[in-house]
Amino acid sequence: MNKLHIVSNRLPFSIVTQQDQISLKPSVGGLATGMKSVYKDFEGRWIGWPGVATEDFSASDFEKIDTMLQKEGCETVPLSSYEVETFYEGFCNRTIWPLFHYFNQYVDYSPEFWESYVKVNQKFADKTIEVIDDGDYVWVHDYQLMLVPGMIKKKRPDIIIGFFLHIPFPSYEVFRFLPWRNEILEGLLGADLVGFHTYDYERHFLSSVRRLFGYEISFNRIHIEERIVLADAFPMGIDYDKFHNAALQTISKTLREKSQLHQELEKVFFVSPERKLILSIDRLDYSKGIPHRLRAFEKFLEKYPEYRTKATLVMLAVPSRNSVPQYQQLKREVEELVGRINGLYGSVNYSPVWYFYRSLPFENLVELYSMSDVALLTPVRDGMNLVAKEYVASRINQTGVMIISEMTGVVKEMAEAIVINPNNEDEVAEAIKQALEMPVDEQRARMAVIQNRLKRYDVFKWAEQFVASLKRIAQIQRDFI
Ligand code: UDP
Ligand code: G6P
Repeated sequence: MNKLHIVSNRLPFSIVTQQDQISLKPSVGGLATGMKSVYKDFEGRWIGWPGVATEDFSASDFEKIDTMLQKEGCETVPLSSYEVETFYEGFCNRTIWPLFHYFNQYVDYSPEFWESYVKVNQKFADKTIEVIDDGDYVWVHDYQLMLVPGMIKKKRPDIIIGFFLHIPFPSYEVFRFLPWRNEILEGLLGADLVGFHTYDYERHFLSSVRRLFGYEISFNRIHIEERIVLADAFPMGIDYDKFHNAALQTISKTLREKSQLHQELEKVFFVSPERKLILSIDRLDYSKGIPHRLRAFEKFLEKYPEYRTKATLVMLAVPSRNSVPQYQQLKREVEELVGRINGLYGSVNYSPVWYFYRSLPFENLVELYSMSDVALLTPVRDGMNLVAKEYVASRINQTGVMIISEMTGVVKEMAEAIVINPNNEDEVAEAIKQALEMPVDEQRARMAVIQNRLKRYDVFKWAEQFVASLKRIAQIQRDFI
């Protein structure tokens, strides 16, 4: 049986140290949460960075970390604090992330970051080569490792490699800003199959390949001398049943024992039983449109005073990349906006915005999804947005309304939601009103259609189709030679 190895910067587990005790906790972010549901089926290893700098631990503690991760099927690629600063915070999150999310004004084109990106990608490639046996497959993930497919292919041309990009691939007009655009494309073209969440991202990628390299492209096949590279769209799904069943359990459990979060939220209802909860969950990231959402909510309360005690925005912002200046600046901006809205419209019995700056365990996430009448997700750019899918999967009685930004990958699968442009605050304010006043029959009719779609194409189907395409391309490559 051939093994399939996963390679990603972020492993499914992150390290926590509390009172000198080292333990693992699940990582946050779509890549880690999605792949975690499927990787055990592949019988391969998951190669990645444990999320901490080597210098922050003694050699023996690092060995402990390594052993704990090995037990979970992971192989670690250690990074020094210099590499964390220049590769992870640098080229990944100050160059590629802002550029690919169309935040051109935030991009730092430092050659030092680039050099570090090349070196660290080589480390990942070398580690993968060490792990693979003849006939194994490799599946590389995301923007942190775009050179890895080319680096592996160079040393092991026999190995079939898939690559999946979890963020948007920008239009050529944006991609061309990157001084190292050719090297990045060459790296990606080391893969045999390159996957994207949507057809638009695939199209942008193909157009960059055509314009920069002039390769012949027929439909979605790129012809490179003696090889073919296939590009395709695979919209990532979620573990639908896991969320749905957990939501079912939450309901029956709530009848017996209530979590602290539940009790806290109940206090809100106690004061005003008809109060509605609007939920948003995201990493605190400028691509998520959090200030846009807050300004729209403020506008909504200003325009519709009758809702001033009846609608609460529960906003979970998960700490993310907080050494990068733009993330620190965003945190200040968000806190200021929350303070302003609560100051303007709050009272002893009413906080318009409940702001949590932390991550929550899975059970609490499902609880939040189950208890909220509306999900308000307003990214200005988002590769997919799995939170939107998780909200839908957790709606047991099919009530609840989704308001989703048209700038997300997930919108392609959610035509029945209320679709908004996050830059249009008036439109978002109206959408909030529409959602809160939507008749239950209409909520159920819309929700049922989306649920059926997401249940059919869950994360297992997604992985199965990607791997099936990878195997097909392996056959095509063999026939081609
Ligand atoms: N998530 C989590 N803990 C939290 C909040 C969120 O594990 O406290 C998960 C959430 O369930 C989802 C992922 O983080 O699976 C976020 O993925 P999404 O695609 O929405 O955005 P990304 O963070 O990948 O940009
Ligand atoms: C997005 C990216 C992932 C990344 C995640 C969390 O989902 O596509 O590659 O792992 O954000 O970000 P972090 O920087 O903490 O890994």
